[in-house]
Amino acid sequence: MNKTEKYDVRHLDAKIDKSRIRTKDEKALQVIESVFDEQTALLIVSLMNKGIIKEISHVVSTGKEANVYHAYGENGKELAIKIYRTTTNIFKQNWRYLEGDPRFKRYKKGTYSFIYLWAKKEFKNLQRMSSIKIAVPSPIIVRKNVLVMDFIGKKREAAPLLKDVKIRSKRKGKIYSKMVDYISRLYNEGKMVHADLSEYNILYYNKEPVIIDVSQAVLLDHPNAYFFLYRDISNINRFFGSIGVDVLENDELFEHVTGFKPDPKIKIEL
Ligand SMILES: Nc1ncnc2c1ncn2[C@@H]1O[C@H](COP(=O)(O)OP(=O)(O)O)[C@@H](O)[C@H]1O
Ligand SMILES: [Mg+2]
Repeated sequence: MNKTEKYDVRHLDAKIDKSRIRTKDEKALQVIESVFDEQTALLIVSLMNKGIIKEISHVVSTGKEANVYHAYGENGKELAIKIYRTTTNIFKQNWRYLEGDPRFKRYKKGTYSFIYLWAKKEFKNLQRMSSIKIAVPSPIIVRKNVLVMDFIGKKREAAPLLKDVKIRSKRKGKIYSKMVDYISRLYNEGKMVHADLSEYNILYYNKEPVIIDVSQAVLLDHPNAYFFLYRDISNINRFFGSIGVDVLENDELFEHVTGFKPDPKIKIEL
């Protein structure tokens, strides 16, 4: 546990009293305060007091930029809470995903608001994808570095990543077609590109693919949108090819999605 993640209960209590946030659930508070930094703990307590989160049960994933927790909301509904780290340099590198996106032109890189922006961007991207019926976790609320969404899985267990499941041969082709359709609809209806699409960011739930990790998704007017699109397409083709699906050529799929042939320049760096 590093310095910023450590703080004592008294200090926390004082802060809570000050902002007139109260919780009767001492036990929950203990867990929260031992896991999260102070700012984040306060935020979670406030979401608990609003009734949006009832209980945080366990950590699902600890990543470079964010941790994901399983939680319960109203009526025992299972939730996923993605908490972006406020102490990381990754965000500076991630700046290129925000360039050229008119939705986010007011923000400065490297600041807290920049990290909050990252969570907000994931929230908005989830909304946009849900609205065109792409299977993603439904977003519920975003506050600063905390994003609450539907939990994909059941009985506290997250659905497996596509890379870890063994799919019956007949089903594989269908899942590939579905992913092709999602890439195509993202592009044509959503006017966006996921930009980190692979078997590592697709969950397999009820025999269907669910796309996650959409904070870096960009709109088509982003300067690297077509490079990202070609990379997404290559990743999907590589994965489905490796499990025995008769996939399209990368160039063919690119043309199928966009209606034109890829510029050789966007294939650089793959
Ligand atoms: N809505 C969700 N429901 C269930 N599990 C999730 C959900 N969102 C993320 N996860 C789990 O957390 C892991 C990390 O989430 P992800 O958004 O990919 O963050 P990152 O890759 O940046 O750490 C995923 O691989 C998945 O196992
Ligand atoms: Mg991921």
